[in-house]
Amino acid sequence: MKIIHTITEMQQYSKEQQRKGKIIGIVPTMGYLHDGHLSLVDTARKNGADCVVVTIFVNPIQFAPNEDFDKYPRDLQRDCTLLEAKNVDAVFAPSVKEMYVEEPTCLVVENKLSRGLCAKTRPTHFQGVTTVVAKLFNAVLPDIAVFGQKDAQQARVLKRMVRDLNFPIRLVISPLIREKDGLALSSRNKYLSAEERENALVLSRSLKEAKEALEAGNTSIDSAIETIKNNIAAKGGKVDYVECVDSETLEDVRTKTGREIMFVLAAYFGSTRLIDNILFTY
Ligand code: PAF
Repeated sequence: MKIIHTITEMQQYSKEQQRKGKIIGIVPTMGYLHDGHLSLVDTARKNGADCVVVTIFVNPIQFAPNEDFDKYPRDLQRDCTLLEAKNVDAVFAPSVKEMYVEEPTCLVVENKLSRGLCAKTRPTHFQGVTTVVAKLFNAVLPDIAVFGQKDAQQARVLKRMVRDLNFPIRLVISPLIREKDGLALSSRNKYLSAEERENALVLSRSLKEAKEALEAGNTSIDSAIETIKNNIAAKGGKVDYVECVDSETLEDVRTKTGREIMFVLAAYFGSTRLIDNILFTY
């Protein structure tokens, strides 16, 4: 497995792979990998990538000054061991200086899907994500890009970016992976105390119950949202938002449409902000 730190070397590597006729799949991550990330590698392969490049870069411009950029967990050696075992072809792990010569004055901004939900408390987050992912695409030159359903809004924003800016890339959204007890896998779960982790199980449990109650015709979307909020509060969580949206447009849904919808939420347990969602047709 090749470990690459510079953009020039990354581009040279990818062009060489393209010359050999390889389909390049990119799996962008911020490292501190878990099984959710590793499942993205499998998704890239299943979708035809015969050269998988995992990028590891904790992107400063998607964190607000009061957020966890400095304490975000990092362990490149451990990540590389995990990726080697998955037969990943290359890891692109640039430094901040390599990615941002100085503070960028040219940003990629999506103006619709990145306005609500997480953006209400993280207003500059998505422009940081779209900017860095565009830069990673230009470094890795992939044919396929895989993002997780865990970051549901991010995946839709990036899909829109690929469409609107004509990136010649097929974006694939890979299913959300949970612990056995239901907690959505996240590098930030590491911040939770044992008690907070136990309480946070209310997120996946409430989402599942909301889906089941709606499918059984036992509740309305408004009531399901209220129930989820109350459940979270009862477990000591602080609700950031709970919404029900169209899975593509992210517009609010309040009635049965026969389309794919998502309940999406963010909540704090202690100082840790967790997100989760459930996707189904209703
Ligand atoms: O989902 C993430 O880990 C990050 O937001 C991403 C897509 C790697 C961009 O920094």
